[in-house]
Amino acid sequence: SSNQMWGGRFAAGPDAIMEAINASIGFDKRMATQDIAGSRAHAAMLAAQGIITPSDADAIREGLLTVLSEIEAGTFQFSTALEDIHMNVEARLSEVIGEPAGRLHTARSRNDQVATDFKLWVRDQLDAVEGGLLALMRALLGQAEAGADWVMPGFTHLQTAQPVTWGHHMMAYVEMFARDLSRVRDARKRMNECPLGAAALAGTGFPIDRHMTAEALGFDRPSANSLDAVSDRDFALEFLGLASISAIHLSRMAEELVIWSSAQFRFVTLSDRFSTGSSIMPQKKNPDAAELIRAKIGRIMGANVALMTVMKGLPLAYSKDMQEDKEQVFDAADNWMLALAAMEGMVRDMTANRPVLEAAAASGFSTATDLADWLVRELNLPFRTAHHVTGSLVALAEKKGCDLPDLSLDDMTAVHDGITEAVYDVLGVHNSVASRQSYGGTSPVRVREQIARWKDILG
Ligand code: ARG
Repeated sequence: SSNQMWGGRFAAGPDAIMEAINASIGFDKRMATQDIAGSRAHAAMLAAQGIITPSDADAIREGLLTVLSEIEAGTFQFSTALEDIHMNVEARLSEVIGEPAGRLHTARSRNDQVATDFKLWVRDQLDAVEGGLLALMRALLGQAEAGADWVMPGFTHLQTAQPVTWGHHMMAYVEMFARDLSRVRDARKRMNECPLGAAALAGTGFPIDRHMTAEALGFDRPSANSLDAVSDRDFALEFLGLASISAIHLSRMAEELVIWSSAQFRFVTLSDRFSTGSSIMPQKKNPDAAELIRAKIGRIMGANVALMTVMKGLPLAYSKDMQEDKEQVFDAADNWMLALAAMEGMVRDMTANRPVLEAAAASGFSTATDLADWLVRELNLPFRTAHHVTGSLVALAEKKGCDLPDLSLDDMTAVHDGITEAVYDVLGVHNSVASRQSYGGTSPVRVREQIARWKDILG
């Protein structure tokens, strides 16, 4: 038999394969809440504009709440023959309230309906992500506060560069996730225009009030062009784009945790709650959560590329290609949220191994730059000369198998006769970090200022 929603011109129902490729109910049932909210707003508006009667609107709005409670209770029978969430909800509404249900679809189309539902869903998701990012930032802030002045090696090329503070490193991540948060808020604002009432593509001849539905659904305004309203999936692309950038941040941090928790580094100890064991090697404690977070960028960026590829070249207005948008966004959203939560838990639970960090900070000639700077400041050498002199001292220390502070004053003066005992002050890692007080620098003074600033912002 033909489709009860659109089958008027059809003599035969769809082939099973047609039904299988066409149906989206398997995944778009996740938008049930948004679909029902949109329909309730639409029905109220239709009545307010005298397009349907108030009693029909009341029956529709009440009936939709019944349908919602069935979905929430898990008793709702989803039907593949009814294709998607929109027609599943409407068909059930018609069983529950009868004839008035058929008036709900006046002055709208599934094209503006799905755009509205999906936007509402993405918007809700951005709000949830905001919470996840804030929680992670607070966990990082806690770590930064505990070790604002602990020294550790700072790296470039993953080779020892200069000592930095643990607090400074934690706060670097806070800055990264803060940019993610700002992108989330920015995208939410830009997408907050309501497509409902664009109808199929051209608007409608019914005297609808799009400002009323937009306001009822928490949008800032109705979208201004009906063709654009049903064609636009920028909000989904932007969601995937900013999710990808955030997943890159998460993966970089995860990579550092994998390295830092290794037996060779031992910079941090991950909690048992966020580690796993090996079924063969009894000594193992693996950073699986960090590895999986590191990997999430693969599927999130994959979703981003997938939807961009689906959208490219599509003519206006709606094409069924666009039904491929939801699974990508749902999968990316789930995995982004999970990665944020897992990272937050790991950060909250992990222990920084202060003595190990300090010892590592002092090795690898990490204060060579401080020595060169001292030669400039105290002996008035040109920086290039100071760089060369320091390089010779590093080579000497390397030959002797010791660190820079272990060289005797005789060793030093043999390389440059102006060097005095005072040089040893700048070779210590604590003095090194304390000296870097330029704005944004690693000095504990500056780090504590940043921690205070962020505590203020995050409350
Ligand atoms: N399930 C569809 C989607 O997700 C809803 C819109 C269908 N519109 C249409 N004209 N067939 O895109």
